[in-house]
Amino acid sequence: MARTALLNIMVNTVRKVARGLVRDFGEVENLQISYKGPQDFVTSSDLRIESKLIEELNELRPGYGILSEEAGETIGTDKTHRWIIDPIDGTLNFMHANPHFCISLALEREGKIQAGVIYNPITDELFEAEANRGAFLNDYKLKISGRKKLSDTLIATGDGGLRDDAALYYRRLARAQNRTHGVRLAGAAALDLANLAAGRTDGFYESGLKIWDVAAGVLMVQEAGGTVMDIDGSEFDYNNGRIVASNPELMPQIVEMLKI
Ligand code: IPD
Repeated sequence: MARTALLNIMVNTVRKVARGLVRDFGEVENLQISYKGPQDFVTSSDLRIESKLIEELNELRPGYGILSEEAGETIGTDKTHRWIIDPIDGTLNFMHANPHFCISLALEREGKIQAGVIYNPITDELFEAEANRGAFLNDYKLKISGRKKLSDTLIATGDGGLRDDAALYYRRLARAQNRTHGVRLAGAAALDLANLAAGRTDGFYESGLKIWDVAAGVLMVQEAGGTVMDIDGSEFDYNNGRIVASNPELMPQIVEMLKI
């Protein structure tokens, strides 16, 4: 697969910085951990990886804005481009020596996500997508699953919504368990979306997410032929944290299932 200059930069940067993440994962017992809120942590590795990514990207594309999970927002001199970074999506897994985590990097151009890279350096799975050019996993083109009946599906979700409204969260989870083949809660929203794009699950929903959790993953799903909406069936908005993603035929059935 021929990569554009933009994706080349993104893939090379993520792969380079990920070497440090693999080293840290090997010494996970030495990590410094801080508490951001209920079940919300940041490790010394999140901070180190984030500052390395920012340093590399600033060198390659000076002036671009940056929005990153731990560092927050830096307005660039170039107002049309912004990097959106999650240095470790799945921090809780990482802290527990569970190898299900990734770096997620997206580029926004004039308010639209143009490209995304999601990389798990432990499994060496690299997902990449660029608007109108398709989504790929280690060079293989991705296609979302074609299952059309909710009762035949495997659905992924996360624990984002639990913090906002636990009763609603558990009612939705129970419904999803009862109406599908099953639900998976793996702990990294970016990988949930990438795996959905790869046809490994049939749908994903969550609320309480941040733009850096989903920016690259949403593009991955769209470029693999999927659709993305708000949990209530309205238009998806990166800034409100509520998401449902699946193939277009399943979408109304999942939205209906989540209506409580
Ligand atoms: C978390 C993961 C998790 C989701 C949480 C997120 P982080 O991101 O994406 O799957 O359920 O809501 O906060 O904190 O590991 O970057």
